[in-house]
Amino acid sequence: MNRAPLLFLGIFMTLAFSWTGIVLINQISYGKLTPVYDETEGKTFPLTPTGLAMQGKRVYEDLGCIYCHTQQVRRPGFGVDDKRGWGDRQSVARDYIREGRVLLGTMRTGPDLRNVGARYVGESGREWHIRHFYDPQITSPGSIMPHFAFLFETRKIVGQPSPHAIQRLLPADYQPPLGYEIVPTRRADALIEYLLSLNDSYTYPQESRYIVTEPEPASETSGAAAPTTEPAK
Ligand code: HEC
Repeated sequence: MNRAPLLFLGIFMTLAFSWTGIVLINQISYGKLTPVYDETEGKTFPLTPTGLAMQGKRVYEDLGCIYCHTQQVRRPGFGVDDKRGWGDRQSVARDYIREGRVLLGTMRTGPDLRNVGARYVGESGREWHIRHFYDPQITSPGSIMPHFAFLFETRKIVGQPSPHAIQRLLPADYQPPLGYEIVPTRRADALIEYLLSLNDSYTYPQESRYIVTEPEPASETSGAAAPTTEPAK
């Protein structure tokens, strides 16, 4: 008996099912998501990262930060991410639409970093990251995060000391020999810029049902269009 048509049908169905499941359904669910312009803020969210921050994402990928850090805040009930201060709301698909490669991660040896830019902010945030990368023991004694001191360069001071030198941020036993200074490499600057940019605190009006406050007692009326009393941040 000629089984070729049956075999062909089997192969066709397998491919069709996979394509529907992997490509089509995702395209229907997420393909139409667009950035949202907020008139009061005068900005479009998710914000476009700066060029330096995008370079920093490459450094993050390069150095394997993803093996210990996730970038996805779970909703209450699926963990205690909100109580740990990792975010005011769960991550939603729209948060990631500007990213070519989404670095969700699977292991949480360290904290989730999706909103780390809301925890360490501005100049003091930058300085914290410098100390932490130079040696996590400085900021977080007992940490098992490896140090990334190779992101900094110890060099002889030639002429004027660099305004970017960072040894003033380090404890006494990390000081370079006299006449030397420690400066961040471009990779360090980029990586820190990237971390400062990670902040999904903004809540999309379309996504307001995902605001994380105390888990409410379940009610029949809390449907998809439930209005929120929380102001969008
Ligand atoms: C071996 C696992 C491991 C790797 C690899 C790792 N980390 Fe960590 N990280 C941790 C742990 C554990 C902590 C918590 C203790 C601490 O603050 O050092 C942490 C903390 C942090 C924090 C502070 C988060 C907060 O909310 O306080 C940042 C930022 C961070 N890591 C960034 C990075 C970056 C960027 C990389 C890659 C260059 C990286 N980590 C690689 C384990 C890791």
